[in-house]
Amino acid sequence: MNYKHIFAQAIDRLHEEGRYRVFIDILRNKGAFPNARCFHGHNGPKPITVWCSNDYLSMGQHPKVVAAMEEALHDVGAGSGGTRNIGGNTHYHVDLEAELADLHGKEGALIFTSGYVSNEATLATLTKLLPGCIIFSDELNHASMIAGIRNSGCEKRIFRHNDVEHLRELLAAEDPDAPKLIAFESVYSMDGDIAPIAEFCDLADEFNALTYLDEVHAVGMYGARGGGISERDDVAHRLTIIEGTLGKAFGVMGGYIAADQMIIDVIRSYAPGFIFTTSLSPVLVAGVLASVRHLKQSSEEREGQQAAAAKLKQMMRDAGLPVMPSVTHIVPLMVGDPVKAKRISDILLAEYGAYVQPINYPTVPRGTERLRFTPGPTHDDAMMRDLVNALVEIWDRLELRKAA
Ligand SMILES: Cc1ncc(COP(=O)(O)O)c(C=O)c1O
Repeated sequence: MNYKHIFAQAIDRLHEEGRYRVFIDILRNKGAFPNARCFHGHNGPKPITVWCSNDYLSMGQHPKVVAAMEEALHDVGAGSGGTRNIGGNTHYHVDLEAELADLHGKEGALIFTSGYVSNEATLATLTKLLPGCIIFSDELNHASMIAGIRNSGCEKRIFRHNDVEHLRELLAAEDPDAPKLIAFESVYSMDGDIAPIAEFCDLADEFNALTYLDEVHAVGMYGARGGGISERDDVAHRLTIIEGTLGKAFGVMGGYIAADQMIIDVIRSYAPGFIFTTSLSPVLVAGVLASVRHLKQSSEEREGQQAAAAKLKQMMRDAGLPVMPSVTHIVPLMVGDPVKAKRISDILLAEYGAYVQPINYPTVPRGTERLRFTPGPTHDDAMMRDLVNALVEIWDRLELRKAA
C-alpha cells in the first residue's frame, strides 16, 4: 500500500477541479477593521481591506469586548482547566448561559466549543434518545447539522430548500406516531435567503414534530436585542431548540443551544461533544458576555451593517455585476466556475488589496461558485466604490458576462 501516493492523488484531484484551498495569511488591525495586514505572497505585510469576515459587526474588536477579555485574563488566567464537569465550570460560563437563555426567551442554554460542535452534538444526541425518530432536514443545511444527523443513526428525509409543501408531503407520508424532528437554518449564509420559520412551526404543530433552528448567521444581527430572525419574526417561543455561534456576529468563539431546561439537561448529560472536552477559556467567555450584553441594548451596529450591505448590493447592481438576490446582509456575487472565482479573488488581493475568499464546492453546489462579500458597519463608501470599480475592471479583463 502506497499511502503517500493515495493522499497525493486526493490533493491532485482538488487542484484539477480548481478547488484546492489556499489560506490567506492576515492580521487584523485592532480598532481599524476592515483594515488588516496580509503576509500572503509578499515580502512583508501589505495593507488590505477584508471583505469576507464573519465578524459581521466588528464586535471582535469592540472596546468593551477587548476590555472584558483583558480583565478576565488578569483576574483568572488563560484557560478553564477542565471539562464543565471537572473543574471547568467557571462563573463566566454560568453567567453567559443565563444571558443566552434570556436572549431567546428560553429556560436554559448550553455553551459548546463551537457552533459546529453544538449542531453535531445536539442533533446526534437528542434524536438517539428517541427510538424510531425521523429527521427532516433542509437540503442546504450546514455540514455540522448533516454530521449530527448522520451520527444520530436516525432515518432522515431531505426536503427541498425552504419548501413548505415538500416538507408537508414528507411529514404526511410517515407514521403519525413516529417521533420527528425538523432541522433547518434561519439565514442561509451562502445565498442570503431566509427560511419560512412560522410555516415550518405550523407543520411541526400539525405533525407533532420537534424543531431545531440554526441561527448562526442571524444571532446578534436580527431582532431588537439580537435574538436572530426568530426574535424579529416573534416565533422564538414556537421553536424547540435555537442554536447559535459566538464566533460570528458576537465576534469571539464558541457555540450554544437554547431550549427548555429538560432538553438542556439531556444534552448536558448525554452529548459526548459537550462532556468530553475542555470548556471554553473564561477569557473567551468573558468577551462573549460583553458582546451579547452590548448587542442586546445597542442596534447601532446592526443598522450600520444592514445599511452597508444594502448599499454594496445596489452599487454592484448599478455596475451590472451579477449580485445574487439576497434578502439579508450577505452579498454573494455569482461566478459559476471555481477557477475563475479563484482568479478574481487572486487579482483583487494582489492588485487592489481587497480580500474576498472564493467559495467553492462542497460549501456551495458545483457550477454556483461565487464571491461572498460581508460588508459591515465599518466599510465606508470609498472602500465600496474602490471595490466595485476593481470588480468591473476585472470582469472586463476576464471577459465575464455581466448581469442583464
Ligand atoms: C449555518 C452554520 N452553522 C454552524 C456553523 C458552525 O459555527 P462555528 O463557526 O461557530 O463552528 C457555521 C459556520 O461556519 C454555519 O455556517
